[in-house]
Amino acid sequence: MAIIEVANVSKQFGKRREKGGNKEKFYALKDVSLKIEEGEIFGILGPNGAGKTTLLNIVMGIVYHDVGSVKVFSGDVKRGEVVRSIGYVSGEERFHWALTPFDVLTFGGLLYGLGGKERKERTAELLRVFGLEGVASSKFDVLSTGEKMRLAFAYALINKPKLLLLDEPTLGLDPDTAIKVRKEIRRINRELGTTIVLTSHYMREVEQLCGRVAFINKGRIMHVGKVSDIRKKHQNLETYFVEMTKA
Ligand SMILES: Nc1ncnc2c1ncn2[C@@H]1O[C@H](COP(=O)(O)OP(=O)(O)O)[C@@H](O)[C@H]1O
Ligand SMILES: [Mg+2]
Repeated sequence: MAIIEVANVSKQFGKRREKGGNKEKFYALKDVSLKIEEGEIFGILGPNGAGKTTLLNIVMGIVYHDVGSVKVFSGDVKRGEVVRSIGYVSGEERFHWALTPFDVLTFGGLLYGLGGKERKERTAELLRVFGLEGVASSKFDVLSTGEKMRLAFAYALINKPKLLLLDEPTLGLDPDTAIKVRKEIRRINRELGTTIVLTSHYMREVEQLCGRVAFINKGRIMHVGKVSDIRKKHQNLETYFVEMTKA
């Protein structure tokens, strides 16, 4: 069953104003169609400014599209409730420096309306699952990059979402931490059965993690399919990606 169905979606923004210029519009997304199935790790691959974040924001109902239709869990996103049943992590995720992992997860539980007992249990479970028990009472500020990232994942999973959206989850991480984060992504998908959509501008990351991938450039989907099929067509995916982004 399709968990996300995007059909012919376009979104225009006013160009950020340059000195003295008029505010003309441009397409951040143009005629985008995608179907993402339950249980997939689906990649959205594209260079900076391709429209990846905008697409995720539209799926969450944070940004409204101009035309087209967007369905999540078979329901219309514009009805709003959908964001409550989605988990979201951005590579830029930061919590207040003085909050501890325990605080962050307790706060998240409150936000999702979990009762006292359930909140305690869920917090303890997530601290354990993400290996954060030892730093449960440490301030966010002193956590390692890996611990910060794992906390962001734990926070995103408080409401047991069936769908997790990850916006450039390894952006700015050192290579070792990035590997750990990728492991975590696979584990969440495998053990919790969570459908995962992740954006990236790293060809290799998408290739390692994702069954299917959409290549996006300048707001348009250039290609959707299994990484292996795309590889059959284009022997050197890196070169194809670079060529595509120049087009
Ligand atoms: N709120 C906004 N107002 C105007 N332009 C925007 C806004 N959000 C994004 N954009 C522009 O839309 C394009 C796509 O942005 P984005 O979706 O963030 O790309 P990506 O995540 O792939 O880097 C970029 O040119 C960006 O500057
Ligand atoms: Mg982005």
